[in-house]
Amino acid sequence: MSPLDFTVEELDELFDLAEDIERNMGKYATSCLGKKLATCFYEPSTRTRLSFETAMLNLGGSVLGFSDAAASSAVKGESVSDTIRVISCFADICAMRHPKEGAPMVAADRSSIPVINAGDGGHQHPTQTLTDLLTIRSLKGRLSNFTIGLCGDLKFGRTVHSLIHALERYEGINFIFISPEELRVPDYIIDVLKERSIPYEEVIRLDDVMPQLDCLYMTRVQKERFFNEEDYVRLKDFYILNKEKMEQAKPEMMVLHPLPRVNEISVDVDDDPRAAYFKQVQYGVYVRMALILTLLDSVKEKGGKG
Ligand code: CP
Repeated sequence: MSPLDFTVEELDELFDLAEDIERNMGKYATSCLGKKLATCFYEPSTRTRLSFETAMLNLGGSVLGFSDAAASSAVKGESVSDTIRVISCFADICAMRHPKEGAPMVAADRSSIPVINAGDGGHQHPTQTLTDLLTIRSLKGRLSNFTIGLCGDLKFGRTVHSLIHALERYEGINFIFISPEELRVPDYIIDVLKERSIPYEEVIRLDDVMPQLDCLYMTRVQKERFFNEEDYVRLKDFYILNKEKMEQAKPEMMVLHPLPRVNEISVDVDDDPRAAYFKQVQYGVYVRMALILTLLDSVKEKGGKG
């Protein structure tokens, strides 16, 4: 599952459902009674795994799974393809995180149940993007006609890659990429923007563009994807958003971050009404509830295990 698997209209339906869930949580309390979600996490996670599990529990379903590859038979050499065939015997839907790019897609091909990509290496993080889009839509009231600055590790930050892919389909989005030279957005993403004549700018200094932004998407430097510690140490504190920097921003600029943060947003920003990164976590539960419901409904319609 990638945000691009959905049309813009289907995304709108998903977000309408998520907003209805937010308003009427009780209405959905037994929607997944008897259903099981497996969370297969071969990489660490706090938010994604627990928000998937919270989402399924809120829907009246149950959860099973593993949170560490070392606690699974992957350590004995079992392939992802075999693992998902086994999981398909236990669960109705699976959320998978894997350090290898494309692993959840391989699993989806071999699976008889829906497999949701919960993050694959430095590639994509589609459900974080659904979370980001729902947060912007709910707080800003639209998903079009704004300037978004994406700041930090734009090379390894998979949430950034998924978000650009999703937003490039909406009208009037102006991208500003803010990163050190070594952590620029990959060329394959820039090529798509060029091909489609989507406006973008690449800058190094956050201060230079801060007053233009309607939304600032901060990211952590992805320590786990670096080949050497020295480069990480040199780049890790390249950007630190603090109260002083926020003074240059528009009064209604929204600050998002997929979290976890390290030093890139100072805690003194947390009380600023423009800081939306903890609200973003809550929207992640609503959108994952909507996604689980939508995918299980579609299995039922196809006459599968629903
Ligand atoms: N945003 C996100 O993916 O957080 P976790 O790594 O804690 O799941």
